[in-house]
This record gives sequence, C-alpha cells and structure tokens, in this order.
Amino acid sequence: MQFASLLSLLSIWTACASAHFILQYPNSLGFDDDNEGTAPCGGFAVTFNSSDDDIPIGGFPVSMLSTHPAADWLFRATLDQQAPFNWTNLLPVISETGLGQFCLPALTAPSDFAGKDGVIQVIQNGPDGVLYQCAAVHFINGVNSTVSSSCTNVTGLTATVTNENNFNTTSSSSATSSGASSTGTAASASSSGVAAATNGPVLVQNLILAAGIAAPFLL
Ligand SMILES: *[C@@H]1O[C@H](CO)[C@@H](O)[C@H](O)[C@H]1NC(C)=O
Ligand SMILES: *[C@@H]1O[C@H](CO)[C@@H](O)[C@H](O)[C@H]1NC(C)=O
Ligand SMILES: *[C@@H]1O[C@H](CO)[C@@H](O)[C@H](O)[C@H]1NC(C)=O
Ligand SMILES: *[C@@H]1O[C@H](CO)[C@@H](O)[C@H](O)[C@H]1NC(C)=O
Ligand SMILES: *[C@@H]1O[C@H](CO)[C@@H](O)[C@H](O)[C@H]1NC(C)=O
Repeated sequence: MQFASLLSLLSIWTACASAHFILQYPNSLGFDDDNEGTAPCGGFAVTFNSSDDDIPIGGFPVSMLSTHPAADWLFRATLDQQAPFNWTNLLPVISETGLGQFCLPALTAPSDFAGKDGVIQVIQNGPDGVLYQCAAVHFINGVNSTVSSSCTNVTGLTATVTNENNFNTTSSSSATSSGASSTGTAASASSSGVAAATNGPVLVQNLILAAGIAAPFLL
C-alpha cells in the first residue's frame, strides 16, 4: 500500500474513531457517526445528482472500512427513490471477521437495473447494533474491469456467505424498520458476487444455501 493511501486511511480511521463503519465506494450519501444507526441510509436523504457513480451491473466493487473485529453484513439495492424501498439482497448475510479494510470486488445487480438510477445500501450488524450507509448510483451495463488497488481486505479477514437473508436480531425492531423483511425478493440472492455471474452459479449457490450449508466465501 502506498504511504499516501495509508495516511488517508488513517485519517478516515480517526474520523470514525468512535466505531462504526465507512462506505468508501460507491460514494456514500453521507457519513454521520451519531446517526449511522438510522434506517435506511444512516440519517441521509436519498438524493441523486450528476456526479453519482456509474455502477456496472455485471460486476462492481463495494469497499468498506470497519472498526469492528467481527460483524454481519447485508448488501442490497433498489430502484425506488423513496420509502418504502423495495430492497433486493445482492447476497445473503455475510458473516465477517477482521478489523479494517473489507472489499467485495465483484457484486452484481439485477439486469433490469441497467440504465436506471438506484440506491446501493450496506448494512452492518455489529456490537453497536445495526448501522446503515447508502450510495445513490446510476446502474449501467458491463463489468468494472478497473477495480482499484484501494479495494483490499485487511490481512486475515474472513467472510462467509450464510444461508440467512436477514440478521438475527433479538429486538426485531431494527431489522423491521430497515425494511429487510423476508418478504418478496429478499428471499433470494440475485447476485453471487462473482463477476458476470450467470444463472448457473447463482442457482448452485442458492441450492447450497437452501441445503443449509454455509458455503465458503469464494467470490
Ligand atoms: C452529489 O451527491 C453526492 C452524494 O451522493 C455528494 O457527495 C456530492 O457532493 C453531490 N454533488 C453535487 C454536485 O451536489
Ligand atoms: C421489487 O424489486 C424486484 C426486483 O427488482 C422486482 O422484481 C419487483 O417487481 C419489485 N416490486 C415492486 C412492488 O416494485
Ligand atoms: C471501478 O471501481 C473503482 C473503485 O475500485 C472506481 O474508482 C472506478 O471508477 C470504477 N470504474 C468503473 C468503470 O465503474
Ligand atoms: C475479501 O475477502 C472476501 C472473502 O474471502 C473475498 O471474497 C474478496 O474477494 C476479498 N476482496 C479482495 C479485494 O480480495
Ligand atoms: C443466525 O442464528 C442461527 C441459529 O443460531 C445460526 O445458525 C446462523 O448462522 C445465524 N446467522 C447469522 C447471519 O449470524
């Protein structure tokens, strides 16, 4: 890692010293430490503008900086621009360990999202409860073949695809208010995280998941 990027990482880290997580790519609608627990976007309104990131549905990175040594994650997307958001899970719940950089290099979004504005939401369920970040994006066709060197995992990171479509929460209020109910499309992963995922691997993955096996995270 270059010294400059290490420095910028450290400064981001300091900005988020009280814990929580930062969505680094796509560009977040905003980060507010105090309101990150507010669904659906950590206290920020969903607004669009011409500098929103173009996101190729066939494979795009999602990069986070986490200050928790272990957490569960949900990656979701929608074309809705207002509540109630019709979220689609891009993956089942990911169970992750490792404090620092966490980046999935090749998530995929539903093919009918191409050419439209939408929202990518990242939810972390960790020791501080359920935390939210969103990015307003413009979905396009294609694959991101220039995922940058800033998409990295901290040494020793582990991440496992669970067979869950929502978090295990004792107080179901947070999960409910996030809209992450088990209704509708949230029940199936629309994306394997493999670049240019085809129906084949997704089907196999869903079968593995349906069998109740937590498949090793082979993205
Ligand atoms: C566009 O929105 C993003 C957040 O999604 C914000 O960071 C950026 O400053 C906005 N740009 C303009 C020109 O308003
Ligand atoms: C919700 O999203 C899914 C996946 O994009 C879509 O198939 C479905 O029609 C949407 N439902 C509503 C009510 O918008
Ligand atoms: C690909 O992802 C990187 C971040 O890793 C981003 O900077 C770049 O703009 C993306 N390119 C495309 C074509 O989406
Ligand atoms: C980060 O770790 C996960 C889980 O092993 C893996 O799927 C992903 O490809 C890794 N990211 C990078 C940038 O190597
Ligand atoms: C939820 O709880 C069940 C039963 O304890 C466990 O098997 C599963 O792995 C948990 N899922 C997550 C995402 O932690």
